[in-house]
Amino acid sequence: MTKIIYPGQTIGIIGGGQLGRMMALAAKEAGFKIAVLEPTMDSPCGQVADIRIVAPYDDEAALEELAEVSDVITYEFENIDYDGLKRLTQMAYVPQGAELVRITQNRVTEKEAIVKAGCPVAPYIVANTYEELVASIDKISYPCIVKTARGGYDGKGQQLLNSAADLPLAEGLFAHSQCIAEGFVPFVKEVSVIVQRNGDGELYCQPVGENIHVHHILHETIVPARIEKMTAQSAEQEAIKIADYLNLVGTLAVEMFVLENGEIIINELAPRPHNSGHYSIEACNISQFHQHIRAICGWPLRKPQLWAPSIMVNVLGQHVMPLSNSIAKYPEWSLHLYGKAEAKVNRKMGHVTIMTKDLEATLQQIESSGIWSE
Ligand SMILES: Nc1ncnc2c1ncn2[C@@H]1O[C@H](COP(=O)(O)OP(=O)(O)O)[C@@H](O)[C@H]1O
Ligand SMILES: [Mg+2]
Repeated sequence: MTKIIYPGQTIGIIGGGQLGRMMALAAKEAGFKIAVLEPTMDSPCGQVADIRIVAPYDDEAALEELAEVSDVITYEFENIDYDGLKRLTQMAYVPQGAELVRITQNRVTEKEAIVKAGCPVAPYIVANTYEELVASIDKISYPCIVKTARGGYDGKGQQLLNSAADLPLAEGLFAHSQCIAEGFVPFVKEVSVIVQRNGDGELYCQPVGENIHVHHILHETIVPARIEKMTAQSAEQEAIKIADYLNLVGTLAVEMFVLENGEIIINELAPRPHNSGHYSIEACNISQFHQHIRAICGWPLRKPQLWAPSIMVNVLGQHVMPLSNSIAKYPEWSLHLYGKAEAKVNRKMGHVTIMTKDLEATLQQIESSGIWSE
């Protein structure tokens, strides 16, 4: 029997961003208390937490304090200190463990795990240095994408190479970490599956979302994804294979490419709720955040069901003003803002979810609102 965490007990969250905030809001509905470890005082999650521990993620005393005040500990992003999390598993109840973070915070170990789970990835090579990249790039063909093994997000730490002449563009990436280079996948759609599991092995996927990126940043998620039913089923099967292989407890988001023939290639993993699952707050009978809390608290999971087709649109810094100016025109739009002070360009400030009977008409409405035009 898995340990059950009850309302009134405290959930500790490492990381104070919007994912932590939305986890916290879901947990507080059920009467849990929230402690958050985050280096900044006024963080999105800190604003709604009961206990704030303001310190770096790898601060030993702070981790001990978090262990002391928390009945269960989770995290909202994968770039936390693995050794710190490992130590925490010995001091506190961390049902997700530390292994999943170790694997997913490095693209090399992540790709290996996906392959070992029996799932397809783009052809790739690992290069520890620029010289190794140059020496082994012929094993994959152009165009290809070089990605830092660690720390990349929203397309940062990546370089597209169209031919050997572009190689020097990737040299700078090695200042950060070792890299992988992978073949460019001629996808027709990008989709993601959020799979969640509790300690008793109950497992469910959220409905498959179709993701549209602009400048490598997620712009819209459309649900259900506009793909064949068979393709959606195999997307879920792939995500479940990876979750099983990793002995998942908690949440795993699996980003995938869909090829013209319906084949699926796995792109990357995130061991936490994901931007592409935010639609589930309104559009499903159980959101990715509520399900995550249930999973780590040893509660039974609920089978996700989509109430209506939906579109989630991200609100970046440059969209906040135009959105505020026109929000009164759109009663169907559910607005989420994360409480970040500074609306910097391309910073994720919030999102809008729209449930609709007509996806194409709503996509058109979003476009013609002018809020997201460059
Ligand atoms: N091998 C690839 N082929 C084609 N497009 C890619 C490939 N890898 C990444 N991309 C594009 O770049 C985006 C960001 O890459 P990703 O690996 O997901 O990194 P991150 O989301 O961490 O920035 C993807 O969503 C996709 O649009
Ligand atoms: Mg990605």
